[in-house]
Amino acid sequence: MTPDAAQVHAVEHRVVRPAKRLRGTIAVPGDKSISHRAAMLNALADGGAEVHNFLPGADCLSTLAVLRALGVESTVDDDAGVSVLRIKGVGLRGLREAADVLDCGNSGTTMRLMSGVLAGQPFLSILTGDASLRSRPMARILEPLHQMGVHVIGREGGKAPIVIRGGTVRAVRYRLPVASAQVKSCVLLAALYAGAETTIEEPEATRDHTERMLSAMGVRIEREGPAIRLTPPERLGPLSMRVPNDISAAAFWMVAAAIHSDAEIHLTGVGMNPTRTGIIDALRAMGADLDVEEERVTAGEPVADIVVRSSQLTATAVGGDMIARLIDEAPVLAVAGAFAQGATEINDASELRAKESDRITAVASQLNALGARITERPDGMSIEGGTRLAGGDVESFGDHRLAMALAAGALSASSEVRIKDAEAVAVSYPTFWDDLDRLTE
Ligand code: S3P
Repeated sequence: MTPDAAQVHAVEHRVVRPAKRLRGTIAVPGDKSISHRAAMLNALADGGAEVHNFLPGADCLSTLAVLRALGVESTVDDDAGVSVLRIKGVGLRGLREAADVLDCGNSGTTMRLMSGVLAGQPFLSILTGDASLRSRPMARILEPLHQMGVHVIGREGGKAPIVIRGGTVRAVRYRLPVASAQVKSCVLLAALYAGAETTIEEPEATRDHTERMLSAMGVRIEREGPAIRLTPPERLGPLSMRVPNDISAAAFWMVAAAIHSDAEIHLTGVGMNPTRTGIIDALRAMGADLDVEEERVTAGEPVADIVVRSSQLTATAVGGDMIARLIDEAPVLAVAGAFAQGATEINDASELRAKESDRITAVASQLNALGARITERPDGMSIEGGTRLAGGDVESFGDHRLAMALAAGALSASSEVRIKDAEAVAVSYPTFWDDLDRLTE
């Protein structure tokens, strides 16, 4: 590697020391999934909107950069500690062709959802991303878009870059072969531009933020059992809102507290959408001392405060429709399993292999490097618990959730853990290391 290349690829190590105690109140950043959708849908609305508590993580900034290249103006400011997105909608048909390829960075949500939006635009778009994103499966969106009559192609095996010549979209009845909110949302967004009603069926309920937000913006969208029906609207009404705090970010502190011998962590304003709360159900099934308080609704999404204290965890098994409800929390659930008495099983989760890293191999190899006893299977893992993690060197492979899951475990390890590629947390939780410092002071 030349010195220049070495600089570009400089990796940041982070040393996490065992914490004597964990105490504090944390407002984790705004929900990543909701922030992406708030930016994209408001970009297509007639008029401006203010989105408070917008997540200024790298993934959501990729969405804003892509929208900017398509002619949508926005700013993100810090208003007294709260991040605020101000965005000027250009209307459903107001985007203009970008002069260059659209860089989605590390963000699968940006690439898959924007493909749905761009399917409806009468111009050429080319979407690319970093090495991780270019290795992830995109055939799952190309297939339904083909059925909708959209000209879209990818590289061999359906990998990005993908090229879209949009403009004419046919209504479809589509049954998703995999439970994926990103694929569902891609089809729903393309369906905004179809000539008639589109129906989508999902094998298991996945996060429904797109449906909730479209409905709040005046679109007729109905769920009937596993089917979702969308009638193409004339226009979208702008939606100013406050984004709930991200349960997927809060999950790292829930597990950090539950496995630690002297912990009490309060997490305020956490999103409690029932399609996302699988981690709370799993931790409770493991005997976690976890209270949900002050349940309320903001911007059509339930939120609550969560208190987690030191717990004696016992093993659990998760699988079936529970997996979609905790898909992003599997790495940190594996950490909880490593500290629990008995063998924790994660089943029916082959989707974990298609995330920012292969999260089955990555989680098993890195936790095993710290003395955990995890056996991988094609669609999950078995975690033989009951041993405290040891110190050592691990890496995130650039996967934000792996870096944070390892840090949550490291706080209760017997000696210090060095995490390579620790800066990956900025993808979804830029202030993660600051919050860790505050909890361990
Ligand atoms: C997301 C859906 C999930 C999740 C991802 C965000 C979304 O992906 O893992 O972090 O915002 O729709 P899949 O749709 O691939 O399951």
